[in-house]
Amino acid sequence: MKTKSPIPVATRRDFMTKSALAGAGLMLMPSSSIFGAAANNKLNIALIGASGRAHAHYGTLKNENVVAVCDVNQLNLPDAMQHFPKAKVYSDWRKALDHPGLDAVLCCTPDHTHAFIANWALNRDLHIYMEKPLAITVNEARTVRETYLTKKHKLATQVGMQRHAMPNFNRVRECIHDGVIGNLKEVYVWGNRQIPRPGYLAGGHAVPSTLNWDLWLGPSPEHPFNPEYVSRNNGSNCLNWNMYWDFGIGQMGDMGSHTMDLAWNVLDAGLPTSVKSKSPEAFNPDVTPVNLTTSFMLPANDWRKDIRCTWFQGGAMPNSPNKWLDLNKIGHGAMFKGDKGFVVSDFGQRLIIPDGKSGNMTYYKPRPEDQLFDDLGNFQAQWTAACKNGKPADTACNFEYSANMIENMCLGLAAYRAGGELKYDGAKGVVTNNADANQFLTKTYRKGWTLNG
Ligand SMILES: NC(=O)c1ccc[n+]([C@@H]2O[C@H](COP(=O)([O-])OP(=O)(O)OC[C@H]3O[C@@H](n4cnc5c(N)ncnc54)[C@H](O)[C@@H]3O)[C@@H](O)[C@H]2O)c1
Repeated sequence: MKTKSPIPVATRRDFMTKSALAGAGLMLMPSSSIFGAAANNKLNIALIGASGRAHAHYGTLKNENVVAVCDVNQLNLPDAMQHFPKAKVYSDWRKALDHPGLDAVLCCTPDHTHAFIANWALNRDLHIYMEKPLAITVNEARTVRETYLTKKHKLATQVGMQRHAMPNFNRVRECIHDGVIGNLKEVYVWGNRQIPRPGYLAGGHAVPSTLNWDLWLGPSPEHPFNPEYVSRNNGSNCLNWNMYWDFGIGQMGDMGSHTMDLAWNVLDAGLPTSVKSKSPEAFNPDVTPVNLTTSFMLPANDWRKDIRCTWFQGGAMPNSPNKWLDLNKIGHGAMFKGDKGFVVSDFGQRLIIPDGKSGNMTYYKPRPEDQLFDDLGNFQAQWTAACKNGKPADTACNFEYSANMIENMCLGLAAYRAGGELKYDGAKGVVTNNADANQFLTKTYRKGWTLNG
């Protein structure tokens, strides 16, 4: 039998196993019960953001009852309606969340709406799968986490960091926790995606009658419509807007959500004590930086000391531990430095590099096969199972894990804007050494939009 919690410092995350999935379907619940699912054991789901990334979820949704579909762009409805012909159509997600008998929400809208929809859904006792990133400011991340923590005994959440289900994530965690590189000393994570933009797209275009641009903007400030904001429909349209401050957090939230997850899955970390960022680029009030290096100091826990974790994006890179290893060949990766060597990993594979002097590896015994962490299985199905099986917190990327991670990233952008190291009081959510920097932890929303409604 495979192990569920073989490492000394067991965390919630070690208990997420296929066994939770195996239990799914065994419990038949009354319609719209908190633990989800009508008598046929299917969830009544609202799909918000019907197209683009949503296509990746149609397969999962087909196993449930999609009773509501919401999109601000009528041109993006036909695919979803073909798959879910009985669903009621909405254009305003606030109304969709009040659809009678709803159990759960799956949301694929642009990033500036995520924390809003997450909070509103939780406040209505709805399970929720939210595409990444969970939030685009520190305050948004904190608000979602706070709301979630009051409901985690009854609501299942998951953030769309689906690469987490790749077996390599477990293997990296196992070997580092088992001491393959000795004591963990430092972590480096990087992503090479670069989408430079000069500023918000120019106005002067008529808004098509099929698009509700006001709802697309949602809580963000007014911006003139430009067709490029909505020009693709294949799950990559986010690359047309996620670099603008009012709509996203650039690569921090885009590939950063996936790649930092490689490190987060190992570190058992929460909030940092300090954050520092640097970029060769001048501050652009419209566009988040392409090239950025951000270091987080993460406090010690019961298996490791204080540790620095550094995120590099858009051309910034850590040094390679060895001249024959070109880290630039790994587009998105993580490197773990221990006192006896390095682990270098991308999403699917890892390299273990013992230190030349002390790394004879006699200190390391790979765990037996029957003690490997169970495969997570299908990432979306892990969430639907958790909605139904009475173990709602048993999702790999629930809103506590994911909010902690994205709060770090958003702090990195605050440090970039403030220019200098920020000391952070994570309990209070306050920068303690630079009062002015606290303005970058939150943002002003358009009149009529409430983050925690
Ligand atoms: N997990 C992954 O690997 C992955 C991959 C791609 C995208 N994403 C995420 O998915 C989300 C959507 O990305 P995309 O490329 O599909 O974007 P997109 O611009 O195509 O938007 C997706 C859909 O949401 C609709 N929409 C926009 N605003 C809305 C609103 N306020 N209410 C309801 N519907 C609205 C759009 O019309 C579109 O149909 C982003 O947050 C992105 O980060 C995740």
